[in-house]
Amino acid sequence: MTGGPADIGGGSMTGHSHHDGVSVVRLTGTDTAGVPTRRFTLTAQPATVQLDSGQRVEAWTFNGVAPGPQLLVRQGDLVEVTLVNRLPGVGVTLHWHGVDVPNAMDGVAGVTQDAVAPGGSFVYRFRATQVGTYWYHSHEMSSLQVRRGLFGAFVVLPVDTPEQGDAVDETVLRHTWLDEDGVATLGVTAGEQRRQVPAGRQVRLRLVNTDGNPAAFTLTGAAVRVVAIDGADVHEPNVLSGVRILVGGGARYDLAFTMPDQPVVLHADGPTIVYSPDGNAGPGRVSAAPALLDPARYGTPAATPFGADSHFDRRFTLRVDERLGFYDGRPAVRYTLNNESFPDVPMLMVAPGDLVDVTYVNRSGQHHPMHLHGHHMLVLNRNGRPTSGSPWWVDTLDVGPGETYRVAFRADNPGIWMDHCHNLEHAANGMILHLGYT
Ligand code: C2O
Ligand code: CU
Repeated sequence: MTGGPADIGGGSMTGHSHHDGVSVVRLTGTDTAGVPTRRFTLTAQPATVQLDSGQRVEAWTFNGVAPGPQLLVRQGDLVEVTLVNRLPGVGVTLHWHGVDVPNAMDGVAGVTQDAVAPGGSFVYRFRATQVGTYWYHSHEMSSLQVRRGLFGAFVVLPVDTPEQGDAVDETVLRHTWLDEDGVATLGVTAGEQRRQVPAGRQVRLRLVNTDGNPAAFTLTGAAVRVVAIDGADVHEPNVLSGVRILVGGGARYDLAFTMPDQPVVLHADGPTIVYSPDGNAGPGRVSAAPALLDPARYGTPAATPFGADSHFDRRFTLRVDERLGFYDGRPAVRYTLNNESFPDVPMLMVAPGDLVDVTYVNRSGQHHPMHLHGHHMLVLNRNGRPTSGSPWWVDTLDVGPGETYRVAFRADNPGIWMDHCHNLEHAANGMILHLGYT
């Protein structure tokens, strides 16, 4: 495959082509020469970008486009990404959101590396061990840089993805644009789009919410399964007659359905995509939005490596409160973690191998999508009720107003890791702490 500025090098992936706006994954060969390697270059540079609404904006981009190029790899690939900074006067990094990379590759400016200065470059290398839907973004002044366009999708396909697949595989990044004056909120994806998909095709939609607040995605018109949450497969997903999903800030949900002979409508909290066999149908009558389900209901029960009754080596509680404070010299509501703000929130200290229990208590009136770098967390309890049902793994957990969640993770990736609110304005305002290993 050639042509994309962030080309896939080596290996057997020969196409992530677009026709009628539909991305089709085709795998036409097998990796035979030992370790496959995927090489990409992402150049941070200013560019004029046209939003789906038609408005043209001055964006910060990777390779001239926003969202940046989708990086598509297969499980087991050794991925090498060269970041080049051609932005005027600002540093940049790459963070692999949800990918549990080695600490030195995590891309957190000031923690795991220095920001790459204008004119400089940095090479990221890691093995793609987790299948699923992830995203990448700059982690330097991220509340500004992500908004302005420095993000893209990172997708890891299973090794055994059928080689002659006609499956439609589309990533839907829902993003709210913020212009220089900090006012406009115009989706990069906005308005109504139409896709032609022949009846009988398998369709996978990878929903990504790049914003800080949860976005409601509704899919009607097909029997659908929620097949993954934050990259982790849902166990034996249930077939639902339609779904309404609240995708928290930074989170990802993957949906799968077989294209019926009637239109399927995806509402992405504003923007709409209509899939139909003839490509022309309008959204037509949209059946009433199905009720929100607890994510533990999307699949069926399965064993987990640990659970609520396990012996935990460490227990932490992180309480979010709101109080009036100052931000940029102006009065503003601030959100504290255990009454402190970055850099004064005490680090969570663990030892390698520990089983760690964390309770998030949100006593504020806002959603806080808590994102732990480098680890995946199993949700054990929500608002005092055990999450019985399908195991539900997250890297970014939206904790709504008044909610309490208990999660567990294995401390198996030494380093210094951020745990922060992925409403990036909240993070810039102090909702950050770190996880450290003794
Ligand atoms: Cu998606 Cu710390 O970031
Ligand atoms: Cu927050």
